[in-house]
Amino acid sequence: MALIGLLGVLIMLVPGCKHEPLLPPVEDLPFGGGGGGGNNGAPCDPDTVYFQQSILPLLVTYCSTPGCHDAVTHEEDVRLYEYGTIMEQVEPGDPWDSDLFDEIIDGDMPPDDAPQLSAEQVSMIQNWILQGAQNNGCSGDCDTTNVTYSATIAPLLQQKCNGCHGGANPQGGYSLTSWGAVNTLATEGRLLGAVQHQVGYTPMPPAGGMLPQCDIDKIAIWVQQGAPNN
Ligand code: HEC
Repeated sequence: MALIGLLGVLIMLVPGCKHEPLLPPVEDLPFGGGGGGGNNGAPCDPDTVYFQQSILPLLVTYCSTPGCHDAVTHEEDVRLYEYGTIMEQVEPGDPWDSDLFDEIIDGDMPPDDAPQLSAEQVSMIQNWILQGAQNNGCSGDCDTTNVTYSATIAPLLQQKCNGCHGGANPQGGYSLTSWGAVNTLATEGRLLGAVQHQVGYTPMPPAGGMLPQCDIDKIAIWVQQGAPNN
């Protein structure tokens, strides 16, 4: 834990650094915060916003979309799919001096024709920056009882998928905003195939690592139940 604190301090010492990211790639960190499932072993604190659990998946789906800030296009040289390059747009502790936050508030990002962030998602980003914009993660208990479409699956897709699979022109032509459409992909085996990175399916999400195992388990349980509209 001291290491994490130290990393946080180091980040603070180089505000606005646009050069080499200070931190090694996520996969190289000793606490293994890799991919979307990363955690550092610390139990989840409800008052902390975690990069691995909340911010990275959000940015991957709402900002790092094809033609925008993904690895291929990186519009205006902004790359919002990994910690190092995300931090080029972030001033730890100061959302208003962070291009990432400023573009959402004043710069009208995402563009009007793309799925928009909710007020709750915007304040999540604000709080993460206020809390020092660390590459943090946690391991919570995975509660897979009472998995339902409305309380479990729909919010999960909204947070981690529907920046790409929402709106008028969903990526790949797959909308994940209605139960009917999600049910079809689920019963065809494509929903699980994609999130479990099964052979023959396009791995989802396409960047930022796999979903945390807990999310994959919840999707699998719901699919096994017949993907009901509950
Ligand atoms: C950054 C944008 C992006 C994000 C985030 C994203 N997708 Fe996709 N998704 C795509 C694109 C583009 C395709 C079409 C890929 C293709 O046809 O090869 C696709 C295809 C799919 C497919 C069809 C795959 C197949 O092989 O049949 C499923 C199912 C899917 N996505 C589910 C999800 C889920 C669930 C999430 C969230 C966990 C997610 N996607 C997150 C862009 C995204």
